[in-house]
Amino acid sequence: MKYQTQAIAKWYWFAAIALFFVQVFAGLWAGFIYIEPNFLSGLMPFNIVRMIHSNALIVWLLLGFFGATYFLIPEESEREIYSPLLAYLQLVILIVGALGAVVGYVFRIHEGREFLEQPLWVKLGIIVAALIFLFNVSVTVLSGRKTAITNILLLGLWGIAVFFLFALYNPANLVLDKMYWWWVVHLWVEGVWELVMASILAFIMLKMTGVDREVIEKWLYIIVATSLFTGIMGTGHHYLWIGMPAYWQWIGSIFSSLEIIPFFAMVVFCFMMVWKGRRNHPNKAALLWALGCSVLAFFGAGVWGLMHTLHPVNYYTHGTQVTAAHGHLAFYGAYVALNLAIMTYAFPIIFRVNPYNQVLNMASFWVMSSAMAFMTFTLTFAGIVQTHLQRVMGMSYMEVQDQLSVFYWMRFGSGLVVVIGVLMWVYATLGPKKEITIVPDGALAPAE
Ligand code: HEM
Ligand code: HEM
Ligand SMILES: [Fe+2]
Repeated sequence: MKYQTQAIAKWYWFAAIALFFVQVFAGLWAGFIYIEPNFLSGLMPFNIVRMIHSNALIVWLLLGFFGATYFLIPEESEREIYSPLLAYLQLVILIVGALGAVVGYVFRIHEGREFLEQPLWVKLGIIVAALIFLFNVSVTVLSGRKTAITNILLLGLWGIAVFFLFALYNPANLVLDKMYWWWVVHLWVEGVWELVMASILAFIMLKMTGVDREVIEKWLYIIVATSLFTGIMGTGHHYLWIGMPAYWQWIGSIFSSLEIIPFFAMVVFCFMMVWKGRRNHPNKAALLWALGCSVLAFFGAGVWGLMHTLHPVNYYTHGTQVTAAHGHLAFYGAYVALNLAIMTYAFPIIFRVNPYNQVLNMASFWVMSSAMAFMTFTLTFAGIVQTHLQRVMGMSYMEVQDQLSVFYWMRFGSGLVVVIGVLMWVYATLGPKKEITIVPDGALAPAE
């Protein structure tokens, strides 16, 4: 570790990993309710469990991004983080907000919009934390060396904060309510989060492959340009049936079909860099996660997104298990794997040891990712059967659900395996380290 303040990342990541646990356990619980609908329903009804599952996901991914930012900015900017104190204050506010939200949910205190159910005081806390964060990292970046990686990362992070403001705006008109909701949800994951993804992947590739910065930067600009060009107008794929003007059906279909391009570019970028790379970096597990991230995001977001994004298709599949299949693999591939990649890369450096437990870490990649892929397949089949029976044949919703139970059993089974994969990864990353070698400071973060 070249800069002391890079260690701030560690605390963000510990908090992120704790919420990752909460997320997957809540997922299992929700998956079990699909099989056994009355399971503890008085204690924790499905909507509450689902809310904890999806909210814990979003919050831990964001905590992971913040950690990654604190880790990579000092190295890129060649500066210590401006104020470690503010960074810890920000973390404390976020943890209090997250705990407050979860406790509130258990007691049924929440707002209405999916993913944005946090009570108002938590939303305001998030905004205060975001302002502290943006101030702290922007000052650091502006006072130091400016690189394409930090510029794009900052653009992404500012975008996350700006679009979050629409979470505070709840117009009474249901069409406008939905429209602004998507300005948070869609413009996050298919807009500004993609910038964060591209810059973190670029940082990992820079460190691991030793390819020239200029080459990496060129790719970065292509990815950013194509993701914004397609993603902003692509928001139209959510305007299809909410009461927006009909021309959005075409704008949404056309632009969102092109959204696969930046995800494809990220796959080509990562594999090209590894292929061209001269450096034989010892952290093979981090490389596997980074490559896996690009590929799984391409399938989950790109291919599974394309599958139901054209309006004549979405007319039938809207809101079925096809959507859930896509939501799972897209979030997992793009953002879960991204976080696990940068953590796998950085933890040994923060702990000042050589890359350790590599075999177990790589095994956890295969276990977790295959199980998520299997879950995606089962949900996709469930969704196709559901679409046919319900939307084509006109059977009632609940009758159709009865027909799908075999898929829900398989989803639960794959969920169990995902949880095993998560436990393996946590043990590999934070558990005892057998082959510990203390390396001199900075030796594992080779100069460019
Ligand atoms: C990493 C990027 C992405 C993530 C994390 C993601 C995640 C999600 C999630 C969670 C939903 C469900 C939202 C809800 O609650 O209604 C959704 C819906 C949708 N996504 Fe994505 N997505 C991504 C990229 C894409 C891309 C690239 C496309 C198109 C090529 C796409 C097409 C769609 C469509 C059409 C829907 C609406 C499904 C419906 O009508 O029910 N997504 N996405
Ligand atoms: C890291 C892995 C996971 C990610 C990224 C993830 C992501 C998500 C997302 C984005 C949603 C909302 C989907 C939508 O609106 O279409 C969701 C819902 C759900 N997830 Fe997960 N999840 C993960 C793991 C799990 C696991 C292990 C299970 C266990 C079986 C699970 C079961 C569920 C269930 C039952 C729902 C509710 C679906 C519904 O409302 O019909 N998830 N998850
Ligand atoms: Fe979208």
